[in-house]
Amino acid sequence: MPATILIGAQWGDEGKGRVADWLAAEADVVGRFAGGDNAGHTVVVGSSVVKLHLVPSGILHPHVTCVLGNGMVINPVNLLKEMDGLAAQGVDISPERLILSTKAHLITPAHIALDTASEKSRGDQAIGTTLRGIGPAYMDKTGRQGIRAGQMMSIEDFADALYSAIEQANKTLVQQGSQPLDAKQVTVEYLDAAARLQPYLRDTTVYLNDRLKAGARILCEGAQGTLLDIDHGDYPFVTSSSPTAGGALTGLGFGPRYVDKVLGVAKCFSTRVGSGPMPTELEGELAERLRGTGEHFWDEFGTTTGRPRRCGWLDAVVLRYAVAVNGFTELVLTKLDVLSGLPELKIAVAYMIDGVRYEYPPSTIAELGRAEPIYETFPGWSKDISSARRNSDLPDAACSYIQRIAELCDIPVHTVSVGPEREQLVYF
Ligand code: IMP
Repeated sequence: MPATILIGAQWGDEGKGRVADWLAAEADVVGRFAGGDNAGHTVVVGSSVVKLHLVPSGILHPHVTCVLGNGMVINPVNLLKEMDGLAAQGVDISPERLILSTKAHLITPAHIALDTASEKSRGDQAIGTTLRGIGPAYMDKTGRQGIRAGQMMSIEDFADALYSAIEQANKTLVQQGSQPLDAKQVTVEYLDAAARLQPYLRDTTVYLNDRLKAGARILCEGAQGTLLDIDHGDYPFVTSSSPTAGGALTGLGFGPRYVDKVLGVAKCFSTRVGSGPMPTELEGELAERLRGTGEHFWDEFGTTTGRPRRCGWLDAVVLRYAVAVNGFTELVLTKLDVLSGLPELKIAVAYMIDGVRYEYPPSTIAELGRAEPIYETFPGWSKDISSARRNSDLPDAACSYIQRIAELCDIPVHTVSVGPEREQLVYF
């Protein structure tokens, strides 16, 4: 640090929450900069499993101040539910520990209804969104008609803004054949939430810059992943924010001179939830083996929506691209233990599209749809690696797999996780 940026290198769900939790131990401030409660981070602390959607993982470290940055979209009712859940688990969520940017945008019930209506109207072209209202909230932000968190400082003004946003959305909902919302009924909870959130509101840009100037160490906790980025992802099958390294700076409001590390987090295989291309996707037994049964929280089912994730071999084309887009300084790999017991493993090292070899993903969805992965095959290992703590504890085949990933992406691998617990990490 002073500032470390932590980014998902694939399609989200790479295990960033547990990496953020581990890095937060050395941070003074942890800030989220993009997205909203479409994210789901699971952190295991002893025998407790903590699920976070909005609050940064740093909240589990009592010395850390957590910031919900200006680049986020916040559902105030869901934020409070999450805060109440944390408080019930004994976590201090006082305004000294959690700060909400006055410039963050708010997700209203209208955004949630519009998200659902839009997905319905797309039919088989649906994005497969989390239905949290994320896209419509960012549309209102860029359309310069959103409601910022700072407006909650005056409940009367906030109520007016909320009613008129709902009336406006009702016109669209009716046009699209959906039921309009009852503004009075759906806003009650929001007005209560606004009153409770007032003490948490602050200009986080000023706060963060003051802390950085005073030498504080800041961890920027990414949500989603590079391939879901509105600019750099598989458009239109993306989220509506910038979960890449550039988004950390605009979404928190400080300059690049403070950044000394950009850590990419990637799973040792690929997963994706929602629609969109995934060249290395597997089906059948192998996909089910990678996904798990769903009985463990670490199985491949969405933390936010519970949807089964699509699973496939590791895609080095995607990783190489993520290294470029974010300027990663090192890579953290997660879930190596899930691969134990597979007789052989594959990594896509390039794509073949219409007879041409691609080292990076093509820029159109149509080309991506025709991509044939070129695989390298590796021997598997049968040893249980969950108690490995040094690379010398890992079987040779596992070390070779990791080394090849580092070579293919031209980046050092910093750490590999071999289980869900805080200490199940192997340092390279
Ligand atoms: P939205 O962010 O709800 O609009 O969803 C847009 C796309 O991003 C969909 O494919 C979602 O499944 C995906 N997505 C959004 N947030 C996450 C996440 O935290 N992990 C994985 N996929 C996500």
